[in-house]
Amino acid sequence: MLTQTLPLRHVSEFAADIRESLTKSGQRELPSKYLYDEVGSALFETICVLPEYGLTRADARLLEKHAREIVRRLPSPVQVAELGSGSGKKTRWILEALSRRQKTFYYPIEISPSALAACEKELGQIDLVSVVGHEQPYLEGLRTVAEGRLHGNNLLVLFLGSTIGNFDRGAGEEFLRSVRAILHEGDALLLGTDLEKDIHQQLLAYDDPAGVTAAFNLNLLARINRELRGDFDLKCFRHEARWNAVERRIEMHLRSTCRQHVEIRDAGLRVTLDEDESIWTESSHKYRMGEAAEMGSRTGFRCEGLWVDEEWAFSQNLLIAE
Ligand SMILES: C[S@@+](CC[C@H](N)C(=O)[O-])C[C@H]1O[C@@H](n2cnc3c(N)ncnc32)[C@H](O)[C@@H]1O
Repeated sequence: MLTQTLPLRHVSEFAADIRESLTKSGQRELPSKYLYDEVGSALFETICVLPEYGLTRADARLLEKHAREIVRRLPSPVQVAELGSGSGKKTRWILEALSRRQKTFYYPIEISPSALAACEKELGQIDLVSVVGHEQPYLEGLRTVAEGRLHGNNLLVLFLGSTIGNFDRGAGEEFLRSVRAILHEGDALLLGTDLEKDIHQQLLAYDDPAGVTAAFNLNLLARINRELRGDFDLKCFRHEARWNAVERRIEMHLRSTCRQHVEIRDAGLRVTLDEDESIWTESSHKYRMGEAAEMGSRTGFRCEGLWVDEEWAFSQNLLIAE
């Protein structure tokens, strides 16, 4: 088998999600969480080192520079949960700073098994850090971690890389409210948000000339072919990144270059796509300075710290549950 596939219990959920999103009236969609199979997670890692995608480097610079100060502002002792950790490379700065003052328990929460394995390997080597991965969706994983917290410990939840931007604004706020409901007063959330910047620069970050982001996007169709016996012809789709000025987000689409019929056998689905019709696969909302703190205050947090990168407008926000 070429790539890791979903366990059987998830296949029917995958098929149902694809059926629902592809047959929606109006704009067709595919859920962005399915971008991250083994190939998708590897392509995402490559995106993170592209010169055009400054977001990850900005996030990492802030963590490297301010980890000690962030840790100083946390209650003690804390256990760390990370939502959608990916490979977890940037998290090293926080764990190293924390491990100087205490033995640290770190729980990455991931739906991509290959990303989770990479994270466990990457961060499992740090002295005085114990890593236990949870292959679960965000909130389910966070509930598991919160239920198992050691007596007298607070939680630090990491939600880095502006992954919150993948939610529509309302859903993002609802998500923060759900996170808050799982936490106790005094627990912390470190939330990374990518800030609005020059539109050309933003678009290039999601449509790099080497075509890595295009491959990441197209891999979603390839994954459906592999795992749900689909017959998408990838040559008949083109990657597109669009700036939606009203919603202040980059949208990734896959545009059909001709009228075509597609069958996805394990989803019991046949669809006809018109020439130029697009499938919307991901949103990356951009934020204004102070917006994360406002979202926090509407969802039960107060802002305890804000750090902004000088090269690439990106903010790190330390929110404390009230
Ligand atoms: C945009 S990447 C960010 C990765 C990393 N945090 C970073 O900053 O580079 C989002 C990560 O979240 C994971 N993910 C997406 N949806 C998820 C969900 N519903 N539950 C858990 N993990 C999810 C993906 O597999 C992916 O690794």
